[in-house]
Amino acid sequence: MSVHDSLLDLIGGTPLVRLRRLTDGITARVLLKLEYLNPGGSVKDRAAVAMVLDAERSGALAPGGTIVEATSGNTGIGLAQVAAVRGYRIVVVVPDTIAVEKTDILRAYGADVVRTKAGLPRDHPDHVSELAGRIAAETHGGWLADQYDNGANPAAHRATTGPEIWADTGGSVTHLVASIGTGGTITGTGEYLTQVSDGRVQVVGADPVTSVYNGGDGSPFFVEAAGHYLHPDTPKDVWPLSYHPEVVDHVEAVPDRESVTTVRRLAREEGLLVGGSSGLVTAAALRVARGLGPEHTVVAILPDSGRAYLSKYHSPQWLRRFGFLDDDRPGLLGDAGLAGPVHTVTTETSLADAAALAAGAARGQAIVPVVLPRRDPRFATAVSEILGVLHPASLAAEIARHGPHTPVGGIAGPPPLALGTGETVAEAAARLDDDRAAHAVLVRDGRLAGLVSRSDLAHRG
Ligand SMILES: Cc1ncc(COP(=O)(O)O)c(C=O)c1O
Repeated sequence: MSVHDSLLDLIGGTPLVRLRRLTDGITARVLLKLEYLNPGGSVKDRAAVAMVLDAERSGALAPGGTIVEATSGNTGIGLAQVAAVRGYRIVVVVPDTIAVEKTDILRAYGADVVRTKAGLPRDHPDHVSELAGRIAAETHGGWLADQYDNGANPAAHRATTGPEIWADTGGSVTHLVASIGTGGTITGTGEYLTQVSDGRVQVVGADPVTSVYNGGDGSPFFVEAAGHYLHPDTPKDVWPLSYHPEVVDHVEAVPDRESVTTVRRLAREEGLLVGGSSGLVTAAALRVARGLGPEHTVVAILPDSGRAYLSKYHSPQWLRRFGFLDDDRPGLLGDAGLAGPVHTVTTETSLADAAALAAGAARGQAIVPVVLPRRDPRFATAVSEILGVLHPASLAAEIARHGPHTPVGGIAGPPPLALGTGETVAEAAARLDDDRAAHAVLVRDGRLAGLVSRSDLAHRG
């Protein structure tokens, strides 16, 4: 059929393409399922149309109704596309960290976009999910799609993604690799392939190293829409019902640098312009494939296109500023000998304890970053969890004014400027000047790696 009555009929049926150059030295077949070829540009088209049709059938969504959803973008885009085709209004609540391209696309489809702060505790009234739930409840005819807990999400992959992979590989697939956001993709696809192969297909989750799904501490990571973030103040971690962890045989923990590097290599060496979670999944698939022989076929699901991330993973400036890209330019800040342990305090630390730290362990540190507490010492503080800064020289005066037991949280200055290891000393000095700051933090792989002062740069510039 070359003519379709509805755009929605074009969702699914995405192709598999063999990875050719990144698989140097690997004998197993690695096939990528290109979900960016869906009409809305991502794997989430599948869940979006399935959830809407299910809600129409149950009566939860009626003609003239409003679709509401909390999303990091792609589900919103999928739903906005369905809303346009089927005549609904749509409101999408997004965290303020998502790529600007995604909010522009949502608005282009006619969606109302509500931005809220990212990284809030789960029970905070402005948390994306809390806010979306409230908007749905207060809107006449409002229906919350609720991809995290909506059974139609994994069911869409059981019905389409899994069977497509089985048919297109002629039943030869031995390993499935997928990221885990809501868990819909890996759950539905994994359940189908496990069942149809009598348990022969191994299901591998690809997860950012600090994500809770692989046992990380839940601190922030830089791969959008995959993994599970956990704010330290969230009273009880709740995993989405769309994710059935028992389907997954193994979760591969991938550092952000490896995901980001793989994104760039996919574009430059394979001609595949994809997003961060596609880099994550491909990196995990390569790790899995390295241990396998030619009789194995690894299928990796690539969720979306790189066009939504030109300002992030595909921007050299962004990569250098977060310390993900150290190219071979001379005079890099990362080579200036400034990396080293940094003593930090949390918002709850008392002024007296902060002063003791500054006089003892952190002696000589020009600034002391104020950070969110973290449990896992393997991971340095993510740059977004640096909430403020203390100047040791002014601590005595602060104690005199506020008392020694006052927590530093309410007293600290705004977060310091962050300079990436991939910037040159000259670029970093110019940014310090623009910021009129004497001190900054050094960031490698998106995490705190040292301190930088104006005089450090003057000596090296
Ligand atoms: C770009 C991208 N990658 C990965 C995922 C995770 O997929 P799932 O929610 O099916 O686990 C999503 C989901 O929104 C996504 O948009």
